[in-house]
Amino acid sequence: MQMSCAVHSAQELSDTGRGEDAMFTTYTIDEKQIAQHLTQLGEIGRTADGGVHRMALSEEDRQAQELVSRWMEEAGMDVRRDHFGNLIGRKEGSNPNASLVMVGSHIDSVPNGGRFDGTIGVIGGIAAIRALHEAQITLSHPVEVVAFCDEEGPRFLGGLFGSRGMVGKIQPEELQRKDQEGITRYEALQAFGLEPNRMNESVRKKGDIGLYLEMHIEQGPYLEEMGKPVGIVTDIAGPVWLCVRVIGEAGHAGTVPMNMRQDPMVGAAEMIQAIERICRMDPMAPTVGTVGRVTVKPGGGNVIPKYVEFTADIRDTDVKRRDRVISQIKTFIEEVCQKRKLQCEIDIVMEAQPVECASHVIETMTKLSHKLSLDAPHMVSGAGHDAMLLADIADMGMIFVRCREGISHSPKEWADTEDIANGTRLLAETLLHYAK
Ligand code: GLV
Ligand code: MN
Ligand code: MN
Repeated sequence: MQMSCAVHSAQELSDTGRGEDAMFTTYTIDEKQIAQHLTQLGEIGRTADGGVHRMALSEEDRQAQELVSRWMEEAGMDVRRDHFGNLIGRKEGSNPNASLVMVGSHIDSVPNGGRFDGTIGVIGGIAAIRALHEAQITLSHPVEVVAFCDEEGPRFLGGLFGSRGMVGKIQPEELQRKDQEGITRYEALQAFGLEPNRMNESVRKKGDIGLYLEMHIEQGPYLEEMGKPVGIVTDIAGPVWLCVRVIGEAGHAGTVPMNMRQDPMVGAAEMIQAIERICRMDPMAPTVGTVGRVTVKPGGGNVIPKYVEFTADIRDTDVKRRDRVISQIKTFIEEVCQKRKLQCEIDIVMEAQPVECASHVIETMTKLSHKLSLDAPHMVSGAGHDAMLLADIADMGMIFVRCREGISHSPKEWADTEDIANGTRLLAETLLHYAK
């Protein structure tokens, strides 16, 4: 099914109630093509259960970037990659002095993830630009659609890489962090044909980007519960990633008496339980804590481990409360180490602050969503997004699209094409409002 949209001038759309009298131009959001693009992209790194495994800077990521870059060209954009591995499609506007409007998200996935996380924002951005291009609607502002590199971060333990890079938050030392095969990010960027030594050239400053817009699946259950296809984000929670290394004494599983062990595994088990308990202490707070990866060495079934490493992802919309929770977790970890005679190192490997979306963008999107009969509710994002970094240097707004049962980071992730197309209409109208 194809959907046609009335196009209003920026002036008319910013003025609720007068759009109806406006001169209409039409453009078409090609719903069928959105579905095709999602299927095609989902084939790259497809898992047996219908999900995707597309680690950043992998061969699959390279193929995905090639495919997306073709779609960007077909939509009338010039395509390049910056030194952080961000894929950028640009369409010039008619006014060379107008500020840049950027639309983005990501096409990498978590291990065994879903087909919609990130991808709908890139595919939707391209679909919106393509629709306007085909309807010969000229924007006065330049527009860039960006597929950010390594938003998810599991490979090198540091997500939001491309967006952190773009806003100047990557230190060269981070490029030395290795994946589980011992490949550094620096080497992976080079193997991708990039020049990480020149990454400073790809940093953008305040004023370089006027507005950043991102469409993403909700990854939670609320839109479905409310029976709404699309939502408007007001705030994004800030994640902190800890890497905890617990070091004990290796030994024979059959011979070392229980009271003589310095077993980092049981220490880590206590710590992980405490993370859950501490994050649940205030039942009214949205604090969440997750241990998603545990590495045990040497890893023999009959060997008391020497070393256990685990990640902890802690999030909240209130940075003070989040930091208080982290400090309680650290204190508890130290107590466990003392009690069990273990050594411990705790590193913060990634940190992003909670952010608010620009109030004028929320207001504009709200009006536009009523005009489109979408009546998008306001909501908070518990998940992190590239948008939270772009908010450092630009006004920022986000659109959420309903996903089935709120499931995400799973092969079961699903969003209906019709809902994605509705989100894309709101994205296109917001673009017209700000960029025309
Ligand atoms: C991104 O998916 C995140 O970790 O929130
Ligand atoms: Mn994700
Ligand atoms: Mn995502």
